[in-house]
Amino acid sequence: MGIIKDRFKEKADALATEIKSILQEHGNKVIGEVQLSQIYQGMRGMTGLVTETSLLDAQDGIRFRGYSIPELKEKLPTAEGGSEPLPEGLFYLMLVGELPSNNDVHHLTAVWQRRSHVPNHVFASIEALPIVTHPMTQFVVAVMALQTESHFAKSYAAGMNKKDYWNPVFDDSMDLIARLPRIAAYIYRRKYKNGDHIQPNGLLDWAGNFAHMLGYTDENFQDLMRLYMTIHADHEGGNVSAHTTHLVGSALSDPYLSYAAGMNGLAGPLHGLANQEVIKWIFQMREDLGTECPSIEQITSYVQQTLSEGKVVPGYGHAVLRKTDPRFTAQMEFGKKCMPDDPLVKTVWNVYEAVPPVLKSIGKIKNPWPNVDAHSGALLVHYGMVEYEFYTVLFAVSRALGVLASLCWDRALGYPLERPKSVTTEQVRKWIKGEDEIWGE
Ligand SMILES: CC(C)(COP(=O)(O)OP(=O)(O)OC[C@H]1O[C@@H](n2cnc3c(N)ncnc32)[C@H](O)[C@@H]1OP(=O)(O)O)[C@@H](O)C(=O)NCCC(=O)NCCS
Repeated sequence: MGIIKDRFKEKADALATEIKSILQEHGNKVIGEVQLSQIYQGMRGMTGLVTETSLLDAQDGIRFRGYSIPELKEKLPTAEGGSEPLPEGLFYLMLVGELPSNNDVHHLTAVWQRRSHVPNHVFASIEALPIVTHPMTQFVVAVMALQTESHFAKSYAAGMNKKDYWNPVFDDSMDLIARLPRIAAYIYRRKYKNGDHIQPNGLLDWAGNFAHMLGYTDENFQDLMRLYMTIHADHEGGNVSAHTTHLVGSALSDPYLSYAAGMNGLAGPLHGLANQEVIKWIFQMREDLGTECPSIEQITSYVQQTLSEGKVVPGYGHAVLRKTDPRFTAQMEFGKKCMPDDPLVKTVWNVYEAVPPVLKSIGKIKNPWPNVDAHSGALLVHYGMVEYEFYTVLFAVSRALGVLASLCWDRALGYPLERPKSVTTEQVRKWIKGEDEIWGE
């Protein structure tokens, strides 16, 4: 681990020095103005935090340290025999800020294998929950149980210099990422496969081993997991899971507590739960229409019905993106390569033809195009993973890469407690009448 930790520290020290001088010279520059509507409407478009790992462009989609998803598919190392990027490579890129060599990626695979042991009390905590418990709840309970292992919590309790906070946060992040596939696979096998657990395979990469422990032997499924873990890892800093992890981490809660908090946000239907909603909606549509592969015309009228019932079309729309999500496109390419004739996957593509014109015709929807969740479920179902309640757990394992790389940066750059100002509507009323001011503590 030494090499990557040293490289990270070197980069972090250089950036900390640069940020100090940026703030000294330009700290009072105004970067935007806030309208009253924005504070009532989810702070959209309000620049409020710094996240180094990725940046979302409304048109081009996500860029990780400047690289788009198509670029990453070309430039990141792949597993032997596979064609999708290894998530280890993306993590290295987000953490260190440079593309990794093959050796760097293999090193990271080996480190995560070494650190992947999950203590028994974590499995016991999962087992204490009723089997019907949602897999995301089981997952977060397991992460909380694992918090006993936090180096940061122990070091902080023993007393430490704040300059050193980043060090145990880095170790905790590595341990946690290494252990998550085992925990997630355990929950999957417990809930859906009669508790018939599969031991890790120490010869496989992080995502390949995850696929193995889930119980899928098809090599294309391993490659799908590599792609899935790569494209779901990060989406800049303001989304609910990333922002929550960052916020809770700013209280110096350790990485286990911070990540668990973020994942409770991921479990919401407007965020990570949307992928299960998409597949549920498509299954329901197929049942209601009585066909395995409904036509574009049939889907169009079904979507109109969904909207008239006051429901959202899951998998469509985005708070920031204004085009087809490149993560959707990456999955569509995978589908075209590995399962072009699958009726469910074809239905996803027909939905892609049918939905945007309907959403555009309503007028109020800012983005009628599909997001990442519109596609992922159909690929998983193709390989037999039909338990859609579990999909958000896959998302959560992947999201750890981005939010924990960011947490390492937060502590290495010494970011303070996050504490924005809030107001009451009573104060807003007075402010409108000129009787009160809104700014200031
Ligand atoms: C992602 C999402 C929460 C973004 O919300 P947002 O930033 O408020 O989106 P918009 O500004 O375009 O919303 C404007 C209006 O269009 C509606 N809208 C947005 N996407 C919609 C969709 N897919 N289906 C139906 N209505 C939608 C909103 O509910 C809102 O309606 P309202 O004014 O009556 O409240 C929203 O598009 C959505 O709910 N999508 C479906 C769920 C989903 O796919 N989530 C995963 C996100 S990665």
